[in-house]
Amino acid sequence: MSNNNIKIRKCLFPAAGYGTRFLPATKAIPKEMLPVLTKPLLQYGVEEAISANIETMAIVTGRGKRAIEDHFDISYELEHQIKDTSKEHYLTEIRNVINNCTFSYTRQIEMKGLGHAIACGETLIGQEPFAVILADDLCDNDSDSVLSQMIKLYEKYQCSIVAVEEIPAEDSNKYGVIAGDVIEDNVIRVNDMVEKPEPQDAPSNLAIIGRYILTPDIFDIIKDTKAGRGGEIQITDALLTQAKKGGVIAYKFKGKRFDCGSVDGFVQATNYFYNKQK
Ligand code: G1P
Repeated sequence: MSNNNIKIRKCLFPAAGYGTRFLPATKAIPKEMLPVLTKPLLQYGVEEAISANIETMAIVTGRGKRAIEDHFDISYELEHQIKDTSKEHYLTEIRNVINNCTFSYTRQIEMKGLGHAIACGETLIGQEPFAVILADDLCDNDSDSVLSQMIKLYEKYQCSIVAVEEIPAEDSNKYGVIAGDVIEDNVIRVNDMVEKPEPQDAPSNLAIIGRYILTPDIFDIIKDTKAGRGGEIQITDALLTQAKKGGVIAYKFKGKRFDCGSVDGFVQATNYFYNKQK
């Protein structure tokens, strides 16, 4: 039995992609482990989930991604080397993460798209609503994190939610793009969504960024969703099936977001966090 009327307790992190845009850096290192300053992208995502009171992290990895599991585990050698030295504080943040949540992993065996990666997480999530963070969309806020904002909205609407932001028309083919009716400030009931449309086919200038809340019926819907854009099973297409029944809202979030899947966005994020910590 699925039940939407419960708290969001789990966050899924699809982290199986090849990271081709960052080769050669990503040949032996998962792209999710690339650091902005000293912290890997995926740790920023996990900390955002923790800020939204989520304690269970479900990570969909792939071949060559073992560094992710090692990162969210204790390194006894390192602990031994730097315990009680002046360098110990460098471990504070990652210790907090490890002490405050649990991690479970599964592998996506074949790269069949984001929808397929999310479906691979079903064994880790079960039949309850859950959050999804794409770690290469790095978000920052001085107040509530994007995921915290979305969870508040979930408590009111209890349906799937996508975070959106306005983009220049020429960028529409990099994103899922939505259309719908405004139901309150910054909230839209979605009635159309298209994965990476060319500018002339885009239904609006509102692009989905890598933050979702999904109701668990999405798993069966993904299984019935045919390959779409790029020959891949797209979460956007599965969400359109929910949207047609009124089951998806889009939320124009407050805060900054960097596309760390691109070199430009990655450099912008690096400069932003560097200036912020100075
Ligand atoms: C994915 C989704 C797309 C979304 C984007 C956000 O695309 O398929 O709908 O807009 O993430 O970052 P990707 O960037 O993985 O190609």
